[in-house]
Order: sequence, then structure tokens, then C-alpha cells
Amino acid sequence: MSVLQNDTFLRALMRQPTDYTPVWMMRQAGRYLPEYRESRKSAGSFLQLCKSPDFATEVTLQPLNRYPLLDASILFSDILTVPDAMGLGLYFEEGEGPKFERTASDESSILALEVPDMAKLQYVFDAVSQIRKTINGRVPLIGFSGSPWTLATYMVEGKGGTDFLNTKKIMYARPELMHHILEINAQTIIQYLNAQIAAGVQAVMIFDSWGGALSHNAYIEFSLNYMQKIVAGLTKTAEGQKVPSIVFTKGGALWLEAQADIGADALGLDWSVDIGKARARVGNKVALQGNLDPAILLSTPEAIKKEVASVLASYGNGHGHVFNLGHGITQWTPPENAAAMLEAVRKHSQQYHQ
Ligand code: CP3
Repeated sequence: MSVLQNDTFLRALMRQPTDYTPVWMMRQAGRYLPEYRESRKSAGSFLQLCKSPDFATEVTLQPLNRYPLLDASILFSDILTVPDAMGLGLYFEEGEGPKFERTASDESSILALEVPDMAKLQYVFDAVSQIRKTINGRVPLIGFSGSPWTLATYMVEGKGGTDFLNTKKIMYARPELMHHILEINAQTIIQYLNAQIAAGVQAVMIFDSWGGALSHNAYIEFSLNYMQKIVAGLTKTAEGQKVPSIVFTKGGALWLEAQADIGADALGLDWSVDIGKARARVGNKVALQGNLDPAILLSTPEAIKKEVASVLASYGNGHGHVFNLGHGITQWTPPENAAAMLEAVRKHSQQYHQ
């Protein structure tokens, strides 16, 4: 493997000194980029992009080629490849979100769930190896998975949702069935992330996109505990380097203190929280990643610069901050506004790293 030329992102995750605040964007390869829309057209569909290592490599590299100021790349894939490998049949309908042909929503379909053979996800590991070769050490490559709870919402509902009533009904009425789904998911995710690490990812992130829909007690029992189990099961070093982990519960800033204790290196933050106050709450336990509202990128370069400066000032002096959006970049973002954000992060962050 080629030598890593820019380790700013990995150093920040481990709260080591850096010259500036590193930055990447959730969903940085996506529909806001005309070159991505072109690739998706050639591939035929979003899932074809994910399932072909050549296409996955091409689109992973697109944001890096367009934006030299990015400090990390993220594997192009989706969290829903995992329930797909479990046999639920993932598909996308144009203009609608993800859907499944089958659900795990009654006792027999839930008890039939099994940890899938990782060979079903070989296309992901092949993409990782090919991306690492093609990036050639420019920046680190992040691997990822959904959290057990977030995957469970899709497995039970069969589609995306907002209130997750079927999932919560099982959780409250038959907690042992929900624990069965979550245990299978956690064991699967440990194997899946460790296989990504073996194939070459240099950091991993767990997306708990829907953990914020839970009550306090339910969050700890049904989401956080399983993420803790995953973090404990992850391969800690590869190629002689530590492989840091990031845990991101969208809407989860109420529980930062508990999240900081599960053994992850960094926590993702959405835009609802002041990052300086979040830093005071987690102390020196973890690095923080975030937390610009992605809607700001729909505004003007002047407004973007002001908001970037404000997030950086709120975090303040010292290390342990990875700049990011508080959720994925939207498809309506003008690409030049993303460039304005990246330039502002580089320009305004150096003063905090003297
Ligand atoms: O960040 C990256 O650039 C890496 C790629 C990535 C995608 N999905 C590509 C994608 C990552 C890390 C994900 C994670 C993901 N997928 C999450 C967790 C993060 C989050 O957003 O909370 C979730 C919940 C999903 C499930 C999913 N996939 C949804 C709800 C949708 C439809 C919504 C939408 O934005 O269209 C997808 C599709 C999807 N995943 C797209 C991309 C680029 C758009 C597909 C297209 O090209 O039409």
C-alpha cells in the first residue's frame, strides 16, 4: 500500500496536533455533482454504482478530484447493503427512498434472520481495495455501516420512515424479538466492518441515523448498547496504524456523555448542538465531527464563510475537531458553495492550531 500523504483527518480523530482542522462532507459523492449524475446514468442505477467496484471507485474519487481541500474520502456504498445481504431484497424506485421486497416484522421472519455470509458483500470489499489503490495515499479512506437500530427500522418497516411505529411496537411489545434483530445486526456489522478494514479502510463510521427517534431509556438499551458491542469487536490496528472509529447518532446530542463512554474515538454531531458546549460535555474522551447545517450550503459564499467561522470559533483552540456537515449534503447544493465551505475551513481554522 502507498504511503499516506495527508493524515490530518486520522490525527484529529485521535486528538493529536494538526496544522488546521481537517474536513470532509457526509454524502460527498452524490447527486449535487454533475459528474456523479453522469456516472449513475452510465451505470443504470444507484445500486449498480454500489455493486460495481469500478463505478464505486469512480464516484468515490469524484469529490476528491474536484475539491483538493478534502482531507478524507468515504467508500461509496449504502448502509442498506447489509439487510440486502440478509435476503430482504433492497430496491430503489425513482424519486422515492429505499425499499425492501421482504420485511422482518413478525416472529417467524425475525427468528429466521441470520448473519449473512460475508461473500455476499464481496463487491464492497473489492471496491475498498480498488479505491485504496486508486487514491494512492492522497487521503485516508473511511468505511462505514448503519447502526443495528437504524438498520432494524428499515428491516421492520420495509422502507424509510419518520415515526417507526411498527419497529417501536415490536420493541415495546416483544423486546426479546427486537433484541434478536439487534444482536444479529451487531454480529453482522462487526464482521462487515472488520472485512472492510482488512480490505483497506483506515477509519470506520457507524451511522445511527434514526437513534434520535428513541426515548432516553430505549436509546441506551436498543441503540447505544449495540454500538458499544460493535466498537468492542472492531479490529483496532491495520497496516501498523490505529483504525479510529466514529459514532454518529443523528438527533442524539442529548446523550453525548453516554456516547463518549462506549470506546469510540470520535462522535458525530448534527447541527442542533453548539459544538463548544458539546466539547465541554465530553471533555478529553473523544474527538468531535461536525456540525454545519447542510442547508447553509444552499445560501451564499458570504453566509457560508460566516457560519463556518462560527462553528470553528465555538470549538475553539486546540485539536480533536473534524469539520463536517451535521448530516448529508443535499442534492440541491451548488458545487461551488461546497468549495466555499472547504476554503473557509482551511483559511479560518489555522489560527486555532498554533
Ligand atoms: O457519504 C458518502 O458519500 C458515502 C456514500 C453513502 C450513501 N449512503 C450513498 C447514497 C453513505 C455513507 C450512505 C449512508 C446511508 N444510506 C444512511 C446513513 C446516513 C444518513 O444519511 O443518515 C442512510 C439512512 C441511508 C439509506 C438511504 N440511501 C436513503 C434514505 C437514501 C435515499 C435518500 C436520498 O438521499 O436519496 C439512500 C440513497 C443514497 N445513498 C444516495 C446516495 C448517493 C442517493 C441515490 C441516488 O443517486 O439517487
